[in-house]
Amino acid sequence: MLKVEDTSVPVEFSPELLTQFADVASRYPKGKQKSALLPILHLVQAAFGWLSAPAMDKVAAYLNIQPIEVYEVATFYSMYFLRPQGKYVLEVCRTGPCCLVGAEKIMDHIEQKLGVKEGEVTPDGLFSWRGVECLAACGYAPVLQIGPEYTFYENLTNDSVDALINGLKAKSNN
Ligand code: FES
Repeated sequence: MLKVEDTSVPVEFSPELLTQFADVASRYPKGKQKSALLPILHLVQAAFGWLSAPAMDKVAAYLNIQPIEVYEVATFYSMYFLRPQGKYVLEVCRTGPCCLVGAEKIMDHIEQKLGVKEGEVTPDGLFSWRGVECLAACGYAPVLQIGPEYTFYENLTNDSVDALINGLKAKSNN
């Protein structure tokens, strides 16, 4: 069961973020601002890397809804992170067709290469990984995606995973 991770770290939304909230909320009819919840949660996640309970409480206050209304949405959709993540989250498809061509071995390899288990963050804060359901690219299995742009990497092999991780590390050092 998914759990909303709490934190005592207070959350402040920057003026720029609040401007983005207002822009999104303005796209909906007056009185229907709750409809802006999903895109606003995406903005918060992009700004903070994940959705803490205090951040979701502030979103609830902004939209004038109950915190539980935010939690039930955030815990339903797997694209929202309810605990801190690495800068790069490798989301590996673990559904049947990908598993038939080695997705589980790819996940084992990622775990070994990064030295962290599913859902954990590498000590340098750069990576976390997890298995996800079908990414709708079954013809290119095994597949992984990396958000927030959701870039796809297809026909994965241990070597291509190594090259991807090494490339992201190099990019972060520049
Ligand atoms: Fe992996 Fe569909 S089963 S992308």
